[in-house]
Amino acid sequence: MTVTVHVPLGERAYDVRIGAGLIGRAGAEIAPLLRRPKVWIVTEERVASLHLAALQAGLQAGGVDSAALILPPGEGTKSWPNLIRVVEWWLSEKVERRDVVVAFGGGVIGDLVGFAAAILRRGVRFVQLPTSLLAQVDSSVGGKTGINTEHGKNLVGSFHQPSLVLADIDVLGTLAPRDFLAGYGEVAKYGLLGDAGFFGWLEENGPALAAGDAALRAEAVRRSVQMKADIVVRDETEQGDRALLNLGHTFCHALEAATGYSDRLLHGEGVAIGCALAFELSARLGLCAQEDPSRVRAHLAGMGMKRDLADIPGDLPDADGLLALMAQDKKVVDGQLRFILARGIGDAFVTGDVPVEAVRAVLAEALATP
Ligand code: GLY
Repeated sequence: MTVTVHVPLGERAYDVRIGAGLIGRAGAEIAPLLRRPKVWIVTEERVASLHLAALQAGLQAGGVDSAALILPPGEGTKSWPNLIRVVEWWLSEKVERRDVVVAFGGGVIGDLVGFAAAILRRGVRFVQLPTSLLAQVDSSVGGKTGINTEHGKNLVGSFHQPSLVLADIDVLGTLAPRDFLAGYGEVAKYGLLGDAGFFGWLEENGPALAAGDAALRAEAVRRSVQMKADIVVRDETEQGDRALLNLGHTFCHALEAATGYSDRLLHGEGVAIGCALAFELSARLGLCAQEDPSRVRAHLAGMGMKRDLADIPGDLPDADGLLALMAQDKKVVDGQLRFILARGIGDAFVTGDVPVEAVRAVLAEALATP
């Protein structure tokens, strides 16, 4: 069964289709968008070896020809040189203003290809075919696109909404368990930031979902995407509420920088630990119950996920070192750190009013916890 979450953004409105077997039906799904029956796919080596033949067959079955550009995997691909490579490839392929291009991969490919589509001929339409859980529940929806530079992650980019998102639940079955669970960090984030009922549902169903139950996976993706769509529709360009989606991210970005954006900590793992710390900070400030951070950590532990700083292999900077890394975060406004804090599970809010001493104390305590 395929379910649809509509993202009602006026002339930029689109559908997110979620279900099993969507790659095999990609031609029929995408054909209504096309002025001529061809698409240009950008993907990466790992996804290509597992799924590109199936996608091209699925497109052909719907009467859609395709050509593919295969890039190296990994965060390093979100770079100026690959942006040039993608755009020049499309130009050499004579992709026109009214054509449609396809991003086929995880968040790295989606962000890079979305940005390349935004600037090709001042903007061509693109379809997101996210292949990681993180991309299905977060990065493929909402139109944030971009690349990294030597100054940091996602510092160059644009808002460019896709014309369609096809989240094929079957591809999640080929993810390494660690990658799946990292994506689950973003799923848990949705419950924590805005829907206590969803968090309770995850506490009940998370382990079966991680073990492979396709119906539960589809439901978790649907509810996450619906929450993201609701927030994006309220605040497309992050003037306010959209920042709620960054629950856990101020801590996460500092931890990612501290671990050199390496395999020591995947982004979704950092989000999960960051959510636990955001609840710890909220409890310290008397905003939420003392039990809430423990409940967050208990769920992450039950899922076999990282939830404490001690779960990150290797040494970390001290609390002041981590604070200094936080100060470089994109979300700093007029030199003030913005945090997403919570009044309880499912009740997050954005604030710039956080005493740095409280953050330092939470970090120092977390670093001292074995
Ligand atoms: N990933 C956060 C956002 O899309 O706003």
